[in-house]
Amino acid sequence: MNISFLLNGETVDLLDVCPTTTLLDWLRDTRGLKGTKEGCNEGDCGACTIIVIDETDVKPLNACILFLPQIHGKAIRTVEGVGIDGAPHPVQSAMVDLHGSQCGFCTPGFITSMVAAQINRDLDHDTTLAGNLCRCTGYAPIAKAATAAAQTPNPPWLQQDRQALASGPSKELTLAQPGSSDALAARLIAHPDTTLIAGATDIGLWVTKQCRDLGDVTFLNAVNDLKIIETTATTTRIGAMVSIEDLRLWAQNSHPSFASLLQRYASTQVRMAATIGGNIANGSPIGDSPPALIAMGGVLELRRGDNTRQIAIEDFFIEYGKQDLGPSEFVQALLVPNQIPNLRCYKISKRFDQDISALCGCFNVTITDNKVTAARIAFGGMAGIPKRATHLETALLGQDWNADTAAACMVALDQDFTPLSDMRASAAYRLNVAKNLLLRYVSDLSGTPTSVREVTV
Ligand SMILES: Cc1cc2nc3c(=O)[nH]c(=O)nc-3n(C[C@H](O)[C@H](O)[C@H](O)COP(=O)(O)OP(=O)(O)OC[C@H]3O[C@@H](n4cnc5c(N)ncnc54)[C@H](O)[C@@H]3O)c2cc1C
Ligand code: FES
Ligand code: FES
Repeated sequence: MNISFLLNGETVDLLDVCPTTTLLDWLRDTRGLKGTKEGCNEGDCGACTIIVIDETDVKPLNACILFLPQIHGKAIRTVEGVGIDGAPHPVQSAMVDLHGSQCGFCTPGFITSMVAAQINRDLDHDTTLAGNLCRCTGYAPIAKAATAAAQTPNPPWLQQDRQALASGPSKELTLAQPGSSDALAARLIAHPDTTLIAGATDIGLWVTKQCRDLGDVTFLNAVNDLKIIETTATTTRIGAMVSIEDLRLWAQNSHPSFASLLQRYASTQVRMAATIGGNIANGSPIGDSPPALIAMGGVLELRRGDNTRQIAIEDFFIEYGKQDLGPSEFVQALLVPNQIPNLRCYKISKRFDQDISALCGCFNVTITDNKVTAARIAFGGMAGIPKRATHLETALLGQDWNADTAAACMVALDQDFTPLSDMRASAAYRLNVAKNLLLRYVSDLSGTPTSVREVTV
């Protein structure tokens, strides 16, 4: 593939690159820019964070799981390129003044995350820096440096990069990088065995950790009509290429508990890259969004060629590793109700940030005259697929809504799930916590909510 982008202000044109070359490998091995570090090579540590700029966004992303075609037509700033007129960026000066660095291995990644946060005027540094790990300094001086530099003016190179993007580099797309859902549908018909790459936060690891040859690949990052969120009177349609971060921002007003769940999804870098389509299509039993979307009564829109079909999200997951997705078919969008006042989502993981769920429970119970009249309850991490707790739902229907009946009904979960023991949690722990989440839900709906942090174990 031919790829063009701006690197620290300079246009780069690459001909015939292997499409699964990561930006990190290219920066370090081909370009000799060693400031961007390789720590984990799987999106966890943030040592490889670089800044990706386009006409509207400034995103810190992990270069280790970012393939070169994903930056086509964009501007990149590495730690070598964030200074201003030969002087350090204010974030760099603050890190020196406030002793934010010791061995320095993590520092370039922190600097680029902090510069992106400074440009975005994002002052919640617990969140913006949750995807950057430091093994020696401790986070207090780093957070102080981020705060000290937060209100400084935008660096002049931001405007310069945006102006340069308008006149070049080339934005011409190849067949492997369709520019619309129609072009994507046509390519999938012609190449049914191609591997779709959306945010690459799963697929990146197939390359960096499993050393897999992906064969023919198709990048979805230029399919702009799948990045749209449209709201009608009752329903919201969310394109498959909407990032988890954009989904979280949308959900803050309409579905605040879902937004809180997404806030605990990985880190800023991963949320800005990962897409909702990828989080559903990968069929993971421990993905965070599927249990919530099932509890919401979400509907998937699948497309093959010119034909689309709709299915309930819970029906998409057939068994572990098997989804209801035919050859040449792709996830185009999902539809969810605009308002679900009783939706509550609970993620249980060992760490608050940047951790995969041991289990995730999502509840949506309708109560009329203090009786349960409808229930949609779904869990992740309790079976080989994200799954509804149908026995529990049936047990609750028609019951009075209070902690005593919930305590009596929660044993129905023994019939719904036979969870596994693994490194994240034992089977007994998962079942016990799942039951107690129902009690927590009763408490939350009664108006005495428990804080999300208290449930983290
Ligand atoms: C450090 C780290 C932390 C993570 N933490 C979490 C977490 O807290 N919670 C969580 O749920 N996940 C987490 N993940 C997993 C990952 O972020 C998600 O599964 C993500 O949503 C995948 O989306 P993507 O766009 O990156 O997909 P990709 O990696 O691009 O693709 C994943 C799969 O989906 C397919 N695919 C993608 N889009 C489509 C489409 N539109 N139609 C059909 N098939 C498609 C691809 O072919 C591939 O098989 C984490 C990953 C990393 C690296
Ligand atoms: S090297 Fe650790 S996130 Fe990229
Ligand atoms: S300064 Fe050593 S890892 Fe952060």
